[in-house]
Amino acid sequence: MDKFVIRGGNPLLGTVRISGAKNAALPAMAAAILTEEPVILENIPQVRDIETERRLLAAMGAEVELGYGRAHHRTTICCQKLTRAEAGYDLVKTMRASTLVLGPLVARCGVARVSMPGGCAIGARPIDLHIKGLQRLGAEITQEHGYIEARAERLKGNHIAFDKITVTGTEDLLMAAVLAEGETVMENCAREPEVADLAALLIKMGANIEGAGTSTIRVRGVERLHGARHRIIPDRIEAATFIIAGALTGGDLLVSSCAPQHQATLLRKLEEVGVKFHVNGESIRVMGDGPFKAVDMSTEEYPGFATDVQAQYMALATQAEGASVITENIFENRFMHALELVRMGADIKIEGRRAVVRGKTPLSGAAVLASDLRASASLVLAALVADGETIIDRVYHIDRGYEHIEEKLRGVGAQIRRIGEMLPKRAGA
Ligand code: UD1
Repeated sequence: MDKFVIRGGNPLLGTVRISGAKNAALPAMAAAILTEEPVILENIPQVRDIETERRLLAAMGAEVELGYGRAHHRTTICCQKLTRAEAGYDLVKTMRASTLVLGPLVARCGVARVSMPGGCAIGARPIDLHIKGLQRLGAEITQEHGYIEARAERLKGNHIAFDKITVTGTEDLLMAAVLAEGETVMENCAREPEVADLAALLIKMGANIEGAGTSTIRVRGVERLHGARHRIIPDRIEAATFIIAGALTGGDLLVSSCAPQHQATLLRKLEEVGVKFHVNGESIRVMGDGPFKAVDMSTEEYPGFATDVQAQYMALATQAEGASVITENIFENRFMHALELVRMGADIKIEGRRAVVRGKTPLSGAAVLASDLRASASLVLAALVADGETIIDRVYHIDRGYEHIEEKLRGVGAQIRRIGEMLPKRAGA
């Protein structure tokens, strides 16, 4: 298993270019199921989750062509023939977002069989709202042997009010509704930019959608969709991670190609903390000459503070003067990184959904364990300012969602290298 070895102390200086959003690319790839014609997606990040989705689609009979050379961020998907309307356990267990194929598969094939995702490092994460929504659209649902099966000759538009805001749930049902007969009105929808980006693609494919990006989405179903070409929006979580890294290391970092309009809440918070930045077009220049002040933060659905940036914010809070109260409202078990940060010298107390971080404490390099994607990012940030060397184990988590993170960090002055398995393999093992 790969590890990162990071030597702290270098300010990040220079320019880092943000990749396409993994969380927008995943539903966009699933949307290709809805048409027999090719869908061409640009700005697809080269991360593990995208490879998992490629395998998922290929196992259904889709042709997925990954670009290479100068076109290495382009992916063309053609679902002319689908031979198997199924997402198996092997892939769903490694990526919960695989459930995004449920809606488009029922809409296109009249049947879908998708493995139920099990537990997850950050909380229970059920998919009951996806299922309830599909039932509202007329699908018959059965559950057997760990799989959900949904059937419907043709889905029928209906009124769907989500009990709770769900990002992939909104996306899944949006993809189901576009080919349903009649009108669907969805209320209490997720307002994340990734939902709006998916709708932009679906509209290019011929769908009739209004209100994506707001809490009420209205869809008028159409008979069929056609191919399209679409550019994925920049990854706002990767951008936020680099913005915080620039500040934390006392650097001067230009975070380019990053859609600053998606960072309003983070930037307001960082301004309170004392981080200096300039927004210019598609770039944000961040200057971390401190000192930083402790500021409380609560995660919320978009446009609130993203739960996917909570762990990185906590790394910053360890270097702010005073007590920062961090409240996690989206997932019930998303403080795994806190215990690792404590091993590096942070003063953090967890009480249920709240973490109290007292700073500023010097951090020192240690051997730490990455527990999930964003937790790994927070450990990388802490390591960049820690005294000495930090070894982060299980970086496969970070590879799921950050494109070439060590190369990007090295490019702006960080001392980071990747090492493989250090113990020699046993003969014959
Ligand atoms: C998406 C993002 C993930 C991010 C999360 C919250 C993708 C691929 N992943 O995940 O990076 O952390 O949004 O911003 O876009 N819930 C239910 N029942 C359901 C669905 C969700 O109870 O059927 C609950 C979840 O357990 C959680 C909350 O709703 O507590 C929000 O989850 P949701 O928005 O669905 O997260 P994901 O779409 O899985």
